[in-house]
Parts: sequence; structure tokens; C-alpha cells
Amino acid sequence: MRQIQEMGVNLKGIHFHCGSGQHGSSAFGRAVTLARECIRIGREYDHEMSLLDVGGGFPSGELNMKTIDALKVTQYDPLGYKTIAEPGRHFCGNSFYLLTRVLGKRLKNNKPCYHLNESLYHSFNCNVMDGVSFENSVDQFYSSINENGNECESFETVNSTLFGMTCDGVDIITKNISVPKDLKVSDWLCVSGMGAYTYGCRSNFNGMKST
Ligand SMILES: Cc1ncc(COP(=O)(O)O)c(C=O)c1O
Repeated sequence: MRQIQEMGVNLKGIHFHCGSGQHGSSAFGRAVTLARECIRIGREYDHEMSLLDVGGGFPSGELNMKTIDALKVTQYDPLGYKTIAEPGRHFCGNSFYLLTRVLGKRLKNNKPCYHLNESLYHSFNCNVMDGVSFENSVDQFYSSINENGNECESFETVNSTLFGMTCDGVDIITKNISVPKDLKVSDWLCVSGMGAYTYGCRSNFNGMKST
């Protein structure tokens, strides 16, 4: 703080980002404690320190009480500063569904394997980059839609493997997921919760575009 002051820079405040998708860890509590300490020390060196930016990192859906309690500390803090946040995933994670089409179907050891017109290199890069997993997910699929645009009738599901379209051996979206039993080639799968860290990080690997 002293070195910054000697450089003639006046700090307006402090910012942290706890890492995306924090589900009730103690990260926010620790970050707020450290940030308040920085504000206190900064003011000793005549920095303004009037702003606390708590960044993003909130999960999609409900916030955990641990996170809420940690942030409540900032509300009527006697240190007196303005608090702002930069939520990303929390706002958009559940705001989009991904529609992906079934390109091929085969049976391996009696288990259905579907090939989709999506991949780990496209919208499902969230599996690799964002730690998302569809393994054993029973409710990830919102519905399936047939080629005429109608929702498929059967909601009976069957454990299946989903492959991406790139022909790369590692391009397996999930080895265990329940999909509608009557799913067939040219139907669409409607995947929920695909609004954050999906389309934005897609590539054109193998000259293929995202859906
Ligand atoms: C500077 C900054 N703020 C906020 C966010 C949003 O983070 P999250 O989606 O974890 O809320 C990001 C995400 O990359 C970021 O880089």
C-alpha cells in the first residue's frame, strides 16, 4: 500500500473474484475478511478505499446461506464503503437451453449410444473447461423433440452414452445419462442449464460449427 502511494496512485477500492460457481464454500467469508483488512490498511496510507467489488463466483440458481451471511457483513459495515458485484453465471446459467440433434444411434453391449451434432469442443466444452459433468444425471434433459417439432411422447428413460460429433476419441459428453427411451436419429435433445460458459468458449474444431 505504501509503495502504491509513493507511486502517486490513489486506490479507489478493492476487488476479488472467488472462482466461478462457489457452492457454499468458505471462500466468500475469507475473501470479505481479507478485503476489509485491505480497506483498513489502505486508508492508513491515505488511499480512498471507498469501493468493495465482490466480483462474480455465485452459482446458478439459489445462493447458499454461507455466501449470503458472508456478504451481509458488508451491508452496514462501520468501515463504510460502497459494495458492488459482477455476477455472471448466476444470471445466465439457467436462462438458456441447448437444442442438439441426434445424428446417429447404435447399441454397444446393449446400451444405446447417441452421436449428437454438438461436442466437447463446442457447447459442451463446459465439461472440460468448467468442471460440469452430466454423468448419472437423471434430470439434465428437459425434453426431446422429434423432427416435426413435437415433444416426444415417452418420458420413460434409458441409460445411454452421448458422443460428440468430432470423431475424436475423447469426445464423449457422458457415458451414463438417462435419455428418453424413444429417442431416435433426427430427434432433438433439449439440455437445460446451458447459459453460462458454453457457447462463449466454443471452437470450430475439425471445421465444425456449434448448433
Ligand atoms: C472480471 C470478471 N467478473 C465477473 C465474472 C463473472 O463470473 P461468474 O460467472 O463466476 O459470476 C467474470 C467471469 O469471467 C470475470 O472475468
